Amino acid sequence: MRYSELIKKHIKNSTIQNIIFLLIIFILWILFFLNINSNLKSISKINLNKFNDMMNNYYYHLKYISIINDEKLLEDINISKFYVIDEKGNIRKALPPIFDKENNISDTNFYYELTNNNSGIFIFKTNDEISRLYIGGKFNKTYLVGELEKINFGNDSNYFVAIKNKKNEIIYSKYNLKSISKILYLDGRLYINFPSKWNEITLYTFVDITNQLLYNLVISLIMLIIIIWNFVDRKKNLNFMNIFEMEFSKIIKSMENFLKELRILDKQSFLNVSERDFEDVIQPIKNEEFYFEELKELKEVEFYSVKEILELFDEISASTEELEATNKELEDLYLQIEKAYNDLEESYRKFSAHLSSIAEKYDEITGNHIERVAKYSKIIAKKMGYSAKFVSDIEAYAPLHDIGKLMIKHEILNKPGGLTRDEYEEMKKHTVLADKIFGDDERFKMAKNIAMYHHENYDGTGYPFRLKGEDIPIEARIVALADIYDALRSERPYKDEYTHEEAYNIIVKGDFKTKPSIFDPEVLEVFKKYHLEFDKIYTEYKKRERIEIEKFDKVD
Ligand SMILES: [Fe+2]
Ligand SMILES: [Fe+2]
Repeated sequence: MRYSELIKKHIKNSTIQNIIFLLIIFILWILFFLNINSNLKSISKINLNKFNDMMNNYYYHLKYISIINDEKLLEDINISKFYVIDEKGNIRKALPPIFDKENNISDTNFYYELTNNNSGIFIFKTNDEISRLYIGGKFNKTYLVGELEKINFGNDSNYFVAIKNKKNEIIYSKYNLKSISKILYLDGRLYINFPSKWNEITLYTFVDITNQLLYNLVISLIMLIIIIWNFVDRKKNLNFMNIFEMEFSKIIKSMENFLKELRILDKQSFLNVSERDFEDVIQPIKNEEFYFEELKELKEVEFYSVKEILELFDEISASTEELEATNKELEDLYLQIEKAYNDLEESYRKFSAHLSSIAEKYDEITGNHIERVAKYSKIIAKKMGYSAKFVSDIEAYAPLHDIGKLMIKHEILNKPGGLTRDEYEEMKKHTVLADKIFGDDERFKMAKNIAMYHHENYDGTGYPFRLKGEDIPIEARIVALADIYDALRSERPYKDEYTHEEAYNIIVKGDFKTKPSIFDPEVLEVFKKYHLEFDKIYTEYKKRERIEIEKFDKVD
C-alpha cells in the first residue's frame, strides 16, 4: 500500500529533523564552552603578565628602597605598608612608620614561611583575623615585605582573578571566596574559571557567563519546542493515517462483499431451464406466484452499490494528497464495479432469453416467430435512428411480447380453428397479464411496454386500452408492425401463410381486417423503405427450419 510508505517516509523525515535539531543544540553548547575557554586562556595570560610586571616593578623598588622617595614607591605598587625585616624577624624599617604592636612580626607563620622560601618572590596571607596579603622578596640578608592593599590587575565587569597557594588556600580574591569551583554563582551571576600556575601560586581567571548562558538556553528551548512539536505533529499525522487506513480498508471490504454478493446473485438469476425442471418453472407462473424475488434483490443491491460509490467519491474529494496516491486502486475498484454492472445487465438479458424460450415452448404455434419479431423490430428501431442501447434492448425484449400467454389457458391458446367470442376476450387478456409477470421492475419497463401495448393501434382501434398515437410507447408501435408482418407470413390454425408481396400489400394498403392507419406512420415509412430486409429474415429462418425438419425426419 502506498500510504504505509508515506507513513514510513514521514517518520523518517521527522526523525532526521529531530536529530539535526539535537545536533544543533549540542554543537551550540560545545561552541559556547570552547569560546569561553579560549577567552579565559587569553585573559589568564594577560593577568599573569601583569602580575609578572608588578613583581619586577616591586623588585626594582626593593633594590632602591633606601635611595628613592618612599611615598612614591607605596603609591606605585599599591602597597599599604612596607617592612624591611632582618633574618631574626625584627622589623628594621617600615613605611609608613609603624606603631608598637607591629614592631615585630617574627611570631607569625608569615615570617616562618617567608624565611623557608628560597625563591625570589612570595605572596603570603596572614593567619590573623585581619587576613592581610603580603608580597615579599629576599635582598642580601634582609627581607623586603609589602602588604598589598589591592592587586591592580585585570578586574572588570566580565571577569576577575583570584590567587590560591599550593595548599589550595585562596590568598587573594575580590569576593572573599572560601573555595573556587569550576562554575561559581555570585550576586545573581554565573562565573566559570580557568586556573594558570605561576610558580607556586595558582591564578584563577573568571568570566561571567550569565548572558551567553541565557542566550544559549533560549536558542535550545526554541529547538526543543520544534522537536516536541515535530513529535506531536508526527503522532497527529500517524493518527490521521491510521484512521484513513482503517476507513479505506472498510470501504475495500464492503466493496469486496458487494462484489461477492453480486456474483452469487448473478448465478442465481440464471434460470437453468432444463427439460426436467421446466414444469417447476412454469407451475408457479400458472399459479401467479412468480414474483421475481431474485430481481428485487438485485435492485436492492444495485441501489446499495450506487450509494457505496457515492460515498467512495465523497471520501476521495474529502481527502488530501495522500489519497491521490490511492486513486489508481479506486479506479480499479470502479472498473470492477462497472464490470459487475455489465454482468448484471447481461444476466437480465439472459434471463429474458430464458423467459422467451419458456414462452416459445408454451405457445405451440409460435415457432421462431418471436426471434424474427426481434430481428424486424431491431431493423425498424435502427433505421428510425434510435440509440444502440435502445436497439439492443428492443431486440432483447421484443421476444417477450406475448409473455402474458403463459397465464392463458392452454386449451384456448392452442385451440385449432377459430375462437369463440368469450375465448377471444380471454385471449386478449395476455396483454394486461404481462403486468403480473414484470411488476414494477424498472429494468423490465421496455419489456412490459411491449407486452402490454403491442396490440394497441395508432388510430385507437386496438386493445386492451384503445390508446391512440403517441400515447402508445414507441417500442410497442414498432413491435406491433413486426408482429403483424410475421403473423401474416406464418401459417396459423386459422389462416394460411402469405407471400412477402401479399403481406406487404396488406400492411401498406390494407385488407378487410388490417388498415394502414393502425400503424405509426413513421414505422410504416421505414417498413416501406426496407421491407425486403424483412423478407430476407423470414426466408432465412424458414430455410433453417426446413433443414432442421429434414434432419429430424432422417433421425426418425
Ligand atoms: Fe400478442
Ligand atoms: Fe406475436
